[in-house]
Amino acid sequence: MQGGKVAKAARSARDTAGSCFRTAVVPAAGLGTRFLPATKTVPKELLPVVDTPGIELVATEAADSGAQRLVIVTSPGKDGVVAHFVEDLVLEGTLAERGKFHLLEKVRKAQALLDVASVVQEEPLGLGHAVAQVESVLDDDEDAIAVLLPDDLVLPCGVLDVMSRVRRKRGGSVLCAIDVPKDEVSAYGVFDVAPVPDAVNPNVLRVNGMVEKPALADAPSTFAAAGRYLLDRAIFDALRRIEPGAGGELQLTDAIALLIAEGHPVHVVVHRGSRHDLGNPGGYLRAAVDFALEREEYGPALREWLHHRLGPDWDPQLTATD
Ligand code: G1P
Repeated sequence: MQGGKVAKAARSARDTAGSCFRTAVVPAAGLGTRFLPATKTVPKELLPVVDTPGIELVATEAADSGAQRLVIVTSPGKDGVVAHFVEDLVLEGTLAERGKFHLLEKVRKAQALLDVASVVQEEPLGLGHAVAQVESVLDDDEDAIAVLLPDDLVLPCGVLDVMSRVRRKRGGSVLCAIDVPKDEVSAYGVFDVAPVPDAVNPNVLRVNGMVEKPALADAPSTFAAAGRYLLDRAIFDALRRIEPGAGGELQLTDAIALLIAEGHPVHVVVHRGSRHDLGNPGGYLRAAVDFALEREEYGPALREWLHHRLGPDWDPQLTATD
């Protein structure tokens, strides 16, 4: 599609200078069990945050940070996720005929972001195994990849730009960390960190180790992996050498820990903004409300309703018979 090509070319011309990766990987092979029954037929990554699927938000972030290609890791039969990025001529024709140009623009946005490819993870063997599937579709000259977990919205966007700058300066791999409450550490990959003596940015820390879903007593810090990784290509070799870890799965965290143990430089950028976890209904709802409050067509009415709903005058009986 003409418009899409122009938009993609404009992005890549702007971005070749900045980012140190061309391919962004989005693992999307999970069953979405926490969203059943919705995810019986609708992939979790297509659930809308207001009106835009989570995976389109993540793809936009990747494209804005310089990715030219998105590789989606899917599971057998989960091709709807990829279809979201494919031009739909019938739908576009109908919208154009009806003069719905505003909707046409919305529909064309995803396919204009970047090139999209997919690889299939035949068996659910873990995040590390999902990322390993991507090696075969990389070009020989790609020495790093970005990985964005579609459950995580890291806001405001832009942490991948900082991570690219850190890799350019310090080499190796760079991850995004968030400081989580102590009682949540065991839901994450947790970093053992140390300050970087010559760092200008105090949010850049050296990683001396990483452990997946530790018990609180074993957690080396409260800095947790927040779903954004800029990984050196060496990760694929490490992924071939790990054994199943937490939950009996091949963990990306364990491959990163192996690289660290072998002297590969790993740093984190501590993200101090906000973050939503789209991976469970509670976090997903918060994201939807947060995004809707920012939209001029929905925000004011929603704010007013929430105010009323949470206020002392709320009477469910009255509302039910309204
Ligand atoms: C995954 C990673 C974990 C990371 C988390 C961030 O876990 O394995 O290291 O901290 O994403 O959301 P999951 O949430 O898929 O269990």
